[in-house]
Amino acid sequence: MKIDVVLLPRELKPEHLSDRAVVVFDVLRATTTMAAALSAGVKEIRVFGDLDAALAAGRSFSGPHLTCGERHAIKPPGFDLGNSPAAFQRDVHANTTLFMTTTNGTVAILAAMSAQTVFTGALANARHVATALSQANLDVTLLCSGTEGLVCTEDTLGAGAVIAALEARADVELLSDTAWMARNLFLSNRDHLYGALYESRGGHNIRRAGLEPDIAFCAALDSLSAVGVVRPGHPPAVTLWRDDA
Ligand code: MLT
Repeated sequence: MKIDVVLLPRELKPEHLSDRAVVVFDVLRATTTMAAALSAGVKEIRVFGDLDAALAAGRSFSGPHLTCGERHAIKPPGFDLGNSPAAFQRDVHANTTLFMTTTNGTVAILAAMSAQTVFTGALANARHVATALSQANLDVTLLCSGTEGLVCTEDTLGAGAVIAALEARADVELLSDTAWMARNLFLSNRDHLYGALYESRGGHNIRRAGLEPDIAFCAALDSLSAVGVVRPGHPPAVTLWRDDA
């Protein structure tokens, strides 16, 4: 399996998408929140680039649903939930549909939609993302969302964690220096993930919003088994990937 890492959505080239499985990472916090929501039994997460579109789609949906997401790390006006992964509980949220928009994560998912298969990944589900990729049997692009247009530590760590998990189970070929950098950043920080996320720019934004407990949730390696797979559409929808093995 060949693996590449793309550090920002604007660096994507057609060859990163065509005939590839792409995993989108927004470790702090969108794709961690997606894993937590799917773990709590959320039925699907419809993904939007802007606030008004998410609100309007939520208003015209008749089933159980919630709008969620963030701008500047906090819940946007009129939304039901922010972007905290710990907010999701099975007894409250099972079978709901989410209408989600975030500053970086949902934008990166929309940028990846011409890939053959798109998953959402995080530190929290890295090992299970590796299982999903092994079953997809395609070459892989690990796409980091970045923070406000800049390369970020936490998504690079997420990509590195998946590379390490894949290396433990199969022959992999790393296609670029960015893939090596992601792998080595993860290997040298695997025992200090909380500190690395805490000190990152994204971590700073979350602390400034008073949401520090979210950092520990997002840093907890392999704490969740749910992996999101993105169904194409307008909007695309993230649903629970089912392990057929
Ligand atoms: C994003 O998509 O930009 C984020 O997940 C940021 C956040 O959660 O505050």
